[in-house]
This record gives sequence, C-alpha cells and structure tokens, in this order.
Amino acid sequence: MISNLKPAERLKNIKPSGIRRFFALTDKKSQTIYLSVGEPDFTPPRHVLDAYTKAALEGKTHYAPTNGIPELREELAKKAFSDYGLTYDPASEILVTTGATEAIFLALMSLVNPGDEVITTDPGFVLYAPGVRLVGGVPVFVPLLEENNFKPSLGDVTSLITKKSRVMILNFPNNPTGAVLSYDEIAALAKIAVEHDLIVISDEVYEKILYDGAKHYCLAAFPGMRERTLVVNSFSKTYAMTGMRLGYVYGPKELIAALWLVHQYVVACVDTVAQYGALAALQGPQGSISQMVREFDRRRRLVCKRINEIEGVECGVPKGAFYAFPNIKALGKTSEAFVEFLAKEANVVAVPGSAFGSRGEGYLRISYAAAYEQLVEALDRIEKAVKKLG
Ligand SMILES: Cc1ncc(COP(=O)(O)O)c(C=O)c1O
Repeated sequence: MISNLKPAERLKNIKPSGIRRFFALTDKKSQTIYLSVGEPDFTPPRHVLDAYTKAALEGKTHYAPTNGIPELREELAKKAFSDYGLTYDPASEILVTTGATEAIFLALMSLVNPGDEVITTDPGFVLYAPGVRLVGGVPVFVPLLEENNFKPSLGDVTSLITKKSRVMILNFPNNPTGAVLSYDEIAALAKIAVEHDLIVISDEVYEKILYDGAKHYCLAAFPGMRERTLVVNSFSKTYAMTGMRLGYVYGPKELIAALWLVHQYVVACVDTVAQYGALAALQGPQGSISQMVREFDRRRRLVCKRINEIEGVECGVPKGAFYAFPNIKALGKTSEAFVEFLAKEANVVAVPGSAFGSRGEGYLRISYAAAYEQLVEALDRIEKAVKKLG
C-alpha cells in the first residue's frame, strides 16, 4: 500500500486555472456558446498548413536543435528588426519555445530565486502568479483599475518595489482587460525598470491585435531595456496557431542561455514539424492578420455596444487583444456566481474576472474570438438572463 501519494510542497497553493473550470456547468443538450477560450476561431493560413504537412511528409519529424531550427530563428531575427528596429543574434539571443506558456515558465525558473518578489498585475494572465509561486517566488500585484482604463499607475509600481524585487512581468495588449499602453506610458515603465534594476518579462503575444489605430511598442526598444528584457511572443494568436504550440523569446544572450538550459531539460526541443509551419507563417503573406483583426474589430464593436445596452452591465471599449471586460458589480452577484448563473440560465460560458486575481472580482471576461452570429445569439441570451435577475 502506497502511503506517499502526496504532491510536493510547492504545489500546495496552486489551484487549477479558473478558465477551464466552468466548462462543465452547461446543459449539454442545448447549444452552449463558449466565450471563455482565449484563442482565435480561425484556422492558420493555408500556406502554413501546407508547409506543416509538407514537413511531416518529408520526414522532418526528428528532434530539432534545442533552440529551434536555424531558419526560423533567422526569420525571427528579421522580424524583430523590421517590426521594432531591434537586433538579436539568431544563434544566442533567440529561443523557440513550446508556446509563450513555456517561455514564461522558463523565464521564471531561470530568474527567480526563492523569496524574490515578482511584480505583476492584478488582474493578470492566469499563468503569472502560479508560475511565480511554483518557482518559490512571491507575486506582488500592481492593481489595474477600471478608472485608470486598466493601466498600471506609476506610483503604484514604484511603491511596490522593494529590495527583494527582481523581476517584473508586463503584458500589453492585455489579457484579460484588452488595455493597450501608449508610447509614453511604456517609456515611463521602462524608466522605472532601469532605475530599479529590474529584469522585465514582456509578454507581447497580442502585439498585432490592435484597434482604433492603436500601436504596439516593444518594451525592449526603449532606452536601457534591451539588456534587461525578455520579450515573449507566440504564433498562437497572430496566426491562429494555438494548437501548434509555437512561441519564442528574444533577450540578451546571458538570459537566453539560462532559459535554454531549463528548456533543454523540460522539452528538449520544440515540435519540429510545427516549426516549419511557423517559418511559413513568417515568410508568407501577412494579409491573414489584418483580415482577422478586421473581423475581431467588428465583433468588438458588437459586444461592447450590446453589453452596454444591458442594464447593470458596463463595458469600456478595449483597444487590443480579443476580450471585453465588463463591470457587473451592479448585478449583485460575485463574478463566479454570475458565470454559473449565465452557464445554467443562458448556456453561455464566460470567465469570471476573479480568475485573473482578486481585483478582477466584479468583472466578466468575454472572449469575442467566436463567430459573429454566435456572439449575437450569446448576447441575446445574456440580455434575457440578466433581465431575470432584475
Ligand atoms: C497573455 C498571454 N500570454 C501567453 C499566452 C499563452 O500563449 P501560448 O499559446 O503561446 O502558450 C496567452 C494565452 O491565452 C495569453 O493570453
């Protein structure tokens, strides 16, 4: 008889992600609409699928180099230069990872000592705080408040920095709020990072999903930042390649070497076939991105308009990513209770704001990466359900 089936202490305070927990709540007989998943409903561009299939059929099914196939790293170096004027050496300053997810975890594993404080945001992407805790660090939360358009206040950031602060995680365009920072706002955060000698993990996976003329500025391109920033990115959102699990990191060679070491022991290398798909994504026409963003924009307008017409629910208009983050405080239910209510009453699944941190309480995350017609139907159902609350 085994008496030792206990996970290690480091898992003690780790709970499952609050995004998937609500899947089981709905009545399977009628049609459930999921506005919960953070992935585009599009398929990858045809040339990506062709390259992927071709690579598989050609037998490119063996281990790849630990840091990624050279052609892909070279293409990624070109991208950094053409998008942001940043020069990275493909041999030592770029690492191909199993999605941004692995990249973030590698960064935390490589940088955070037990007891180190890691500044991150609340609300924030579900991976950050558990990731920090898993490696023995202590997450310290900068609030993202609605009255500040879910942007961090510089005063808050500065006041939370202590002698134990070593790393800061930033994510703009933001999940779950859709907030985007201006040039000056990023410059100010960069200045704080330099002044306090912080290393920044900048999660820029939504860099291309922007609206109303908003622009993305890569954090590493600001003065003093290239040498202290790990830019984390992914093919998941930009090319609708979530299932291919392709991400990458740019950074100074000392840091990339550290990530490489952990990566080597965790995954050995990234799926070779998927890397050829990613290569085709970068080398091929980029029109699919603007087409996808145009469609997201149409949905964003619909969702924000319809949500604001519902009494007791209010929603700012996000400038990036594909999430709306309406305030539901007036409905008198916790965000979890409201999600459960919506699932049962309307067969619509969203994510409670509290899944992203305690400051997310009172909000709902609606992913509009679902078909327009589905969104129309979901919003009708939500409106009807909320009326029953009144
Ligand atoms: C902010 C953010 N970072 C990282 C990820 C993970 O992306 P990937 O599929 O590349 O692991 C997501 C996915 O939802 C995300 O929203």
